Amino acid sequence: MISQLSKSSLKETIFPAFQQCRAKTLALFEGIDEATFCYQAHPDFSPVGWHLGHIAYTESLWLLERSASLPCLFPQYRKLFAADGLPKSERVKLPNLEESRYYLAVVREKVLDYLEVADLEQQERLWRFILQHESQHSEIMTFVLELGKQERGKGDKTIQNSKSRSVLSVRAASPLGEAKDLIQNYHPPIPPSPHPPHHLSEMIQIPAGEFEMGDESVHALDNEQPTQKLYLETYWIDRYLVTCAQYRVFMEAGGYQNPLWWSQAGWKWLQTEQVIQPLYWCKNSIWDNHPVCGVSWYEAEAYSRFVGKRLPTEAEWEKAASWDAQAHCRRIYPWGNEEPTLKYCNYDNLMEGTTPVDTFWVGQSPYGLYDALGNVWEWTTSWFDGYPGFQSYPYVGYSQVYFDQQHRVLKGGSWATRPWALRCSFRNWYHPGVRQILAGFRCVADKALQ
Ligand code: AVJ
Ligand code: FE
Repeated sequence: MISQLSKSSLKETIFPAFQQCRAKTLALFEGIDEATFCYQAHPDFSPVGWHLGHIAYTESLWLLERSASLPCLFPQYRKLFAADGLPKSERVKLPNLEESRYYLAVVREKVLDYLEVADLEQQERLWRFILQHESQHSEIMTFVLELGKQERGKGDKTIQNSKSRSVLSVRAASPLGEAKDLIQNYHPPIPPSPHPPHHLSEMIQIPAGEFEMGDESVHALDNEQPTQKLYLETYWIDRYLVTCAQYRVFMEAGGYQNPLWWSQAGWKWLQTEQVIQPLYWCKNSIWDNHPVCGVSWYEAEAYSRFVGKRLPTEAEWEKAASWDAQAHCRRIYPWGNEEPTLKYCNYDNLMEGTTPVDTFWVGQSPYGLYDALGNVWEWTTSWFDGYPGFQSYPYVGYSQVYFDQQHRVLKGGSWATRPWALRCSFRNWYHPGVRQILAGFRCVADKALQ
């Protein structure tokens, strides 16, 4: 009886999550033309149309073939949409949007049939993996679409000056969209913190001590497990993300021209890439209090050195974001264990861009960090690696092949991160030179500055 009950309630949480996730994935393609669908905006990222087919392929592989033991529904797509099938540059001859929608719909119909009979208690982890897999591709498609607009707007002054210009190149028409009222009229249950809220360069002391890192719940991906107890010495961490106004000081001081602030690898990267500002930079001062967005790890590292600080380790980030020292336990989210909403953070593409770094004060962590989740991803200094006792799931290619000392960990999620991939223990990873992802950073110091 008990197992019957929990079986049906599991179905009742998985079903709407799958459908909600899918609805928003498909909404990205409203009004899109075939050229955009197949367009490769950057050699490191596949066309949006490929991501769509890959979502269907992955769902079909793991839930229909591997779990329900059904034959492959569309064997002709296997080579094209498998993660290890074709190099990214060859992912441009794609079924069109209509055919892709059909592929998704046929797979989903069979998946929902299977959901009726599947042993969810056994398989919950796999279903949640599939949901997070689509979530991550959905975030990638959000910025790849924007990159495409930017690319094709190049040299076209009318596009650059028109209202239809890219959200990212100008970062939305107004700094806060429709959700503004929701945030501003929300009456928080906790009193405002005693510090002056507009001290955007303020740092918080994180006292020495033990905390717990990672997550072993059924939601956790392989790379978040097992949890571990870690002791950290006292350190100081920025309360807010580094803002555009702060970053401008670095730019105007000739930061991009001075090797003093750059590591050897960073300077080499800079000479090759000839970068002079963040990818999603906008001069207008209305963005002053928004986080800097579209920087490589090297730029984040150089800025940190310029201000006499450094980037946090992943552990330092996670302790400051999720550890409740008073209750001596970790939180799933900085604000507690309640699922994300717009009162806590900027996520799920609800704001269609970044928000000022001091907006979400109800979403603070116990130590007082703002925007630990949402707004922009945060670079950490840690190489992506398995935690002690790591076990691959569901396949070696998901995490383990990236344990190569070539990828840096990013934490916290962005304004485009879907709710199923948003939590303090979640780990993202990219090459340190990548700037297309929606990444910014905050800094740490070993002692109080000033
Ligand atoms: C964690 C975002 C780097 O895009 O390669 C998607 C996520 N893995 N399908 C990636 C992922 C397999 C991954 N990132
Ligand atoms: Fe994938």
